Amino acid sequence: MTDTTQPQHPDRNLALELVRVTEAGALAASRLVGRGDKEAADQAAVDAMRHMLSSVEMDGVVVIGEGEKDEAPMLYNGEEIGNGRPPRVDIAVDPLEGTTLTAKGMPSALSVIALAERGTMFDPGPCVYMEKLAGGADIADLLDLDVGIDEVIAKVAERRGIPTGDVTVVVLDRPRHEEGIAAIRDAGARVRLISDGDVSAALLAVSERTPVDLLWGIGGTPEGVIAAAAIKCIGGQLVGRLWPRDDAERQAAIDAGYDLDRQLTVDDLVRSDDCFFSATGVTDGDVLQGVRYVGGGRATTESLVMRSRSGTVRRISATHDRAKLRNIAGVRFG
Ligand code: FBP
Repeated sequence: MTDTTQPQHPDRNLALELVRVTEAGALAASRLVGRGDKEAADQAAVDAMRHMLSSVEMDGVVVIGEGEKDEAPMLYNGEEIGNGRPPRVDIAVDPLEGTTLTAKGMPSALSVIALAERGTMFDPGPCVYMEKLAGGADIADLLDLDVGIDEVIAKVAERRGIPTGDVTVVVLDRPRHEEGIAAIRDAGARVRLISDGDVSAALLAVSERTPVDLLWGIGGTPEGVIAAAAIKCIGGQLVGRLWPRDDAERQAAIDAGYDLDRQLTVDDLVRSDDCFFSATGVTDGDVLQGVRYVGGGRATTESLVMRSRSGTVRRISATHDRAKLRNIAGVRFG
């Protein structure tokens, strides 16, 4: 563990290498935006990312990936990535967060990866979903899944000195959220429904000067861990609670030792204080601009590149020469 009380020499910031990985994923997926084929878009992002990941010197193991080995030939949970040299890290990766958004040409699809010291990322085990509540640093202590969302909204409004009618909660548009959406509206607050993409929505909720105050609802557990890594870098809080889909999943989680009543914070989801995060926009969204083709065989990307220990948040805009990349890598980059 690094002694953070002593001045230190600048060391390697892995996020600056990871940005090439998410740029590659986004460029590859962007060719399939609006083409109606979410599997092909995801596969393109996986292939490009994996190719670029091989350039990152590390001893990495995928903790949050494309699923179990049998269904996912690449970036599967447990896969070892890198050349085996230090640092030893856990990897959480979603080559295409928002496969349906991409297939339909809708906003806020991302290519995203996070790294943290080995053994410090939460392993969701059999739990595919978790309840999530996220918001900015100034309201972090108000986030509580044990009280009603109406109560949280009232406290947020009071803390921010605004009427409840000015509080906006972003929610995944799913039948399972019907009651919660009604409760938010009954509290007088506004709901912003999204069809997919709660990593991007969590980023929006924790960031200052955005039109969203809170993210609420049940979404993917892997996405919860990835969002937690981002929030450790950018600030704010996400509390999550595992949400088994049925009795069998509940029993499997209990048998594996998971506490289903516990509210997990970002520090439970990513325990290391040194984590790295990079996301590149695939389609335009509130958080990141998507890939744009600007003529002359070039494409532009925008990425959010962050490290928790230093707290540095970079926005990296890049212009890519697609033909040159293709010649160098032999892989189709956009
Ligand atoms: P994919 O990119 O895998 O399609 O996931 C998108 C997403 O909307 C996530 O952002 C979210 O956490 C999850 O799916 C919600 O799951 P479901 O669509 O099953 O409600």
